[in-house]
Amino acid sequence: MTPDELKRKVAEAVVDYVKDIPVIGVGTGSTVNHFIELMAGFKGKIDGAVSSSEGTSARLKQAGIPVLDLNDVGTLEIYIDGADEINPAMQMIKGGGAALTREKIVAAASKKFICIADESKQVDVLGKFPLPIEVIPMARSYVARQMVAMGGRPVWRENCVTDNGNQIIDVHGLNLVDPLSMEKAINDIPGVVCVGIFALQPAHMALLGTPSGVKVIG
Ligand code: A5P
Repeated sequence: MTPDELKRKVAEAVVDYVKDIPVIGVGTGSTVNHFIELMAGFKGKIDGAVSSSEGTSARLKQAGIPVLDLNDVGTLEIYIDGADEINPAMQMIKGGGAALTREKIVAAASKKFICIADESKQVDVLGKFPLPIEVIPMARSYVARQMVAMGGRPVWRENCVTDNGNQIIDVHGLNLVDPLSMEKAINDIPGVVCVGIFALQPAHMALLGTPSGVKVIG
């Protein structure tokens, strides 16, 4: 099975978890895109979705699903999103698609986060995937120097402007054995809008696509 076929399988599997939920939080990425395609079948049966990116909003509208403002919706029952890496504690690295800030906001506003991914995303220790950090443009070099001081190798993701008008630094080689402390430490750097470590709010459940079927964790 190709990674894309595994992504399709988890997207199909997660449909059972969102049945009868009137408003769903929807993440960003190639795995979630499969889920959005399937959401076309929910048209007229749900009130709508809260989106984590402009790209996801466009796809939701195309599928006939109303896109709702988080400010009008309040707390969400469920958030469905992918990950770039997920460890056994369900902590994740996210932001490969530059949508990390809105993803973290929608995840925080949701009672339950279900991560959908192919099994290649499962790791023992986070950090092989370069850590995305969204920064205010004027702070890019400053934050990069702080990352060097913390042992990382920052690379500016050139030609990438986030939905919030900011920039992304991808940090290679960081020691992420303690993701929680690292998330807090990076959050504290002036100019950081959002760090792609999701440890303060890990996933509650993960559906991982494997060639022998969908593995459910949590
Ligand atoms: C978007 O910024 C990311 O956090 C995605 O959720 C993550 O990159 C997963 O994407 P794929 O489903 O494309 O692997």
